[in-house]
Amino acid sequence: MSEVLRLQGASRRFGGLMALNNVSFAVQEGEVLGLLGPNGAGKTTLVNVVTGVHPASQGQVFFQGADITKRAPHQIARLGLARTFQIVQPFPKMTVIENVAAGALFAGRAGGMAEAFDLARKHISFTGLDDVADKPASTLTLAKRKRLEFAKGLAMNPKLLMLDEVNAGLNSTEVDDALALIRKIAAQGVTIIIIEHIMKVVLSVSSRLVVLHHGELIADGVPEKVTRDRKVIEAYLGKKYAQILGGEGDVVEA
Ligand SMILES: Nc1ncnc2c1ncn2[C@@H]1O[C@H](COP(=O)(O)OP(=O)(O)O)[C@@H](O)[C@H]1O
Ligand SMILES: [Mg+2]
Repeated sequence: MSEVLRLQGASRRFGGLMALNNVSFAVQEGEVLGLLGPNGAGKTTLVNVVTGVHPASQGQVFFQGADITKRAPHQIARLGLARTFQIVQPFPKMTVIENVAAGALFAGRAGGMAEAFDLARKHISFTGLDDVADKPASTLTLAKRKRLEFAKGLAMNPKLLMLDEVNAGLNSTEVDDALALIRKIAAQGVTIIIIEHIMKVVLSVSSRLVVLHHGELIADGVPEKVTRDRKVIEAYLGKKYAQILGGEGDVVEA
């Protein structure tokens, strides 16, 4: 297995707040890593640090061995690192296929418009958006806007795809569909970091968990171990998780 991503003492300060505080871990090729933590733990900040949106104030980020700490977002995308946005933000007036084509162009995956649209069509089929391909993105349901985020990410032909709460707000059938899609993407060899606050969802796809709390990494390991870690239970999961340990609670939310 080769290393895809490494954070080395990565920190991000916003004024007096350390949103990410001295975080170190690595992700190996082919892993599906679940990134957990309560609201405000620093999960989205970690994605922003890695993708160059809010670069690290201290520490370093390596992608396939190269130091990308200070690189611009489009440069990082071109290397093969794509992310979805927690707040889905398609270009509202552009059609679905135009949005996906823009993803391909942003990451330098297409030489021109025709190629970008060919690629976009492929990813629209893969994500089940054929019926809305020519509709303005603003007219899509939340579930389909989330799929559009997947399609845009995939159009960047990523080596690593970071999914930031792609299941938030979806009903259980829609979540199951999204999980099937995530498995399909992983089966193609794409390394995945999935951020999610629904425990059941993360556990069903992740081979490893990393937990953040107040910007710090408090646990890193296989799900069986991390979900039994006292610090994790206390800091994040609290009493609700006790229900799962007892074989009860189905979906646990932060
Ligand atoms: N651009 C920003 N400016 C100032 N504070 C921010 C910014 N982004 C995030 N934060 C703060 O950093 C902390 C971590 O936020 P975030 O990474 O969004 O957490 P999570 O995604 O785990 O819910 C929060 O306290 C949040 O208010
Ligand atoms: Mg977030």
